[in-house]
This record gives sequence, C-alpha cells and structure tokens, in this order.
Amino acid sequence: MKTRRTAFALALVASALLAHQASATRIAPIQRPVDDITDVRLALAELEQDPEVLFETFVSIHGREYPNEAERALRFEVFTANLARAKEMNSRRESSSEAVYGVRGPFADLTAEEFRQRLLPKPYARPGAAALERVMGEELELTGTYSDVPDFWDWREHNAVTSVKNQGGVGTCWAFSAVGSIEGQHAIKTGGNLVSLSVEQISDCDNGTFPQNNSADCGPNGGLPFMAFEYVMNAGGLELESAYPYCIGDWSCNPCFPKGYDEHICGHRLPADKCDPKDSCDAKFDPSKIAVKIDTWASIAPDKNETRMAAELVQSGPVSIGIDAESLQMYWFGIIVSRMCSSDPRAADHAVLLTGFGTAKDMFFQEMKYWEVKNSWGGSWGEKGYFRARFGTNTCGIANHGATAIIH
Ligand SMILES: *[C@@H]1O[C@H](CO)[C@@H](O)[C@H](O)[C@H]1NC(C)=O
Ligand SMILES: *[C@@H]1O[C@H](CO)[C@@H](O)[C@H](O)[C@H]1NC(C)=O
Ligand SMILES: *[C@@H]1O[C@H](CO)[C@@H](O)[C@H](O)[C@H]1NC(C)=O
Repeated sequence: MKTRRTAFALALVASALLAHQASATRIAPIQRPVDDITDVRLALAELEQDPEVLFETFVSIHGREYPNEAERALRFEVFTANLARAKEMNSRRESSSEAVYGVRGPFADLTAEEFRQRLLPKPYARPGAAALERVMGEELELTGTYSDVPDFWDWREHNAVTSVKNQGGVGTCWAFSAVGSIEGQHAIKTGGNLVSLSVEQISDCDNGTFPQNNSADCGPNGGLPFMAFEYVMNAGGLELESAYPYCIGDWSCNPCFPKGYDEHICGHRLPADKCDPKDSCDAKFDPSKIAVKIDTWASIAPDKNETRMAAELVQSGPVSIGIDAESLQMYWFGIIVSRMCSSDPRAADHAVLLTGFGTAKDMFFQEMKYWEVKNSWGGSWGEKGYFRARFGTNTCGIANHGATAIIH
C-alpha cells in the first residue's frame, strides 16, 4: 500500500509538471482515475484551474453529451457554482485527513435541488420518517466483548461485499442498502458464497407501509431498509441480480406499482407514462428462483454507541444505515466530518451500507478514526464508489438507523 501510494504521488507530480508545461497553450483534461488522488495539495490546486478546463475534464470523465449549446451553457453555469461551493466547503477543512470536495463526481453539473429530486427519496419515504419512533428489530446478542473489536475492519477483505452498484437517476438507495446487508449475511453464513442479489425485485414488489408515520416503500420514489427486510421475509426471499436484473435506474423498464402500493403516501409514477404489466412484479417475480432467504432483521446499536456498532458490525456483517446526504453531492475523497452535515435522525435522506472502519493519519501524524461506507452511485463517485465518515461523532447521523438482515 505504502509503495503504491508513493508511486501514485510520483505519477501525479509528473502529470502536474506536464500539465504545467502545456499551460502556455491549453491544459489538457486530466485523465487519471478518481482513486489515484492521494495528494490533497494537488487536488486543491486542480480546483484552481480555469473552470472551462475543469468542465472539459468532467465532461470527458463522465461522457456527458448535452443536446445543444444552450443546455451546455446552462450546465457550465451550474458547474461553476458547484466549483465555488466545493471550494467554500474545502476552506472549512481543519485537517489533511478531512474530506476534499470537488467537481469530478458525476453530479457536478446538477444543482443541489436537482440532485435531491433525482437521487434522494421523497420526504415520506426517507429513513428519517421513522426516526422519532424508531422501529426496533431484534437486538443482537454480542458474543465477544468491546475490547475484542479490532482497530481495522473491512468486510471487502472477507469476501462479504459485492462490487459497487449504480442506482441511476431514481430514489432506490433504500433497496440497495438492504440488499447489501442481505448479500453480506448470505456470504458470511455460507462461508464465502458471495452473490449479487436483485434490487429490482424489492423496488417492483415491496408494498410495505408504515402508516403510523405516514410513510411507505415507494419503489423508485424511496423507502425504508427495515421494511425491505420485512418484504424479503414475507416474500420468501430474493432472486439473484442475474435472474431479476436492475432496470428502473434509467427507466429501461416501466413496471406497474404492486398491489397495495400506497399512492396516497408515495405519489404517482414519474414520468407519468402508462406502465407495462410485463415489466411488473406479478409477471417477473418467480418464487421458484429464490436464491437467498432471511430469517429476521435486527437493529444495530440502538443506543447509537459507535463502539458497540463496530462490535456488532464485526460480529454480524455489513450494516444498512441512513444518513444526511447533502455533503455527498460534491464529495471527492477523504473523511467527512460532522461539521459538514446534520446528525439529526430526521435529516436522514439517503440509505447506504457500512462495511468497515479504520484509522487515517494526517500529514502531522494526527490520527482520525473513520467508518468505511459503500454507496450506490457507481464506481466513478467518491473513493471508487465508497466514502469515509468520522467515527465517534455520529457524522451525518451514521449511528441513527443501523439495521441488518439476519440469517440464522
Ligand atoms: C411516527 O409515529 C409515532 C406514533 O404514531 C409518532 O409519535 C411520531 O411523531 C411519528 N414520527 C414522525 C417522524 O412522523
Ligand atoms: C402486498 O403484496 C402482497 C404480496 O403480493 C399481497 O399479498 C398483499 O395483499 C399486498 N398488500 C396490500 C395492502 O394489498
Ligand atoms: C459505548 O459502549 C462502551 C462499551 O459498553 C462504553 O465503554 C463506552 O463508554 C460507550 N460510549 C459512549 C459514548 O457511551
């Protein structure tokens, strides 16, 4: 790891020098992959480049094609405003371990409002909706003690996490988060049989409601991971991703809502096209193809004690959590700290998967403990699809909604 980082740092210096030589004419877009960035200084310097150059880099990384010049001009304006926003966020950093925000991610040409509209669940289907009266699953019985908790844990190293998925432009984060927990449970309980499971099945079929709090599972409009676990328990299990593949992210399928879908709570389909019965749960879900069953689900660290949460994660597997996602739109790399987002349980508007924890050292060898979190926005976002958040400060509400599927 050390030598790899050094090699990257050298490569970055070399490319920075080359870029400098070329600057007399025009700086070429920087082509290195996102995860190569390990040098904060170079990253911050990159943001000082001409916004036109940064925009060209963004367009080429993400293969953006705008329909016309007017749209391109509008997107450039939004991009420039986001660049200023990222720089303002960076100006509040207090340690070199802290997150750097930038304009390389896939959402740098969306306004904050567009980002919220497309990717985050509607208010009634947010993890925060069930927050005041938190619904409790079983509580885990810890077999070890807190002092057994290691300093570092990464479920990826134990073959319990599938590769990063991409929810596309809809609010299905809750289903991805729940499926991540089930994939982890299955891999651990079968001694390493890691399989990718169907998110589409949950999005199409889950008609769960939580009327006490006027919330419900709403397919692409949002939902709550604990209700997804209850759907999977009631449905008898989940099919493989390969048997029931994800398609709602770009509306390449057009499923009708399931029977019992609460339109009063969830709202109508957007876009308001006529749905296709062939694309719907009734036609696609095949109980004979169920690959994985779960027995129940459990709340993780209901007292929000993160040391307990770490112990339970090591004992039981990756954990589904809800967080305030506001600072994630412009996230580039590093450790997000609580100053940048809300820890209020009601602010939770995104569900993700906790996969591990560790400790980083900054340039003055000051340590910062972090959680490692798998997102569902593709591998070109953040740290190869992951982000880190500070441990022990309930950063972005990371400890508020922990839950996991259980296979006995
Ligand atoms: C959820 O429901 C409970 C019981 O009906 C209620 O006391 C609580 O305020 C509700 N929470 C929200 C966020 O609506
Ligand atoms: C939800 O779906 C299940 C399975 O299809 C069905 O048995 C149940 O009746 C539905 N709920 C409502 C309220 O329609
Ligand atoms: C979390 O739980 C551990 C183990 O019981 C305890 O030592 C620690 O003080 C708790 N932390 C907080 C902030 O309550």
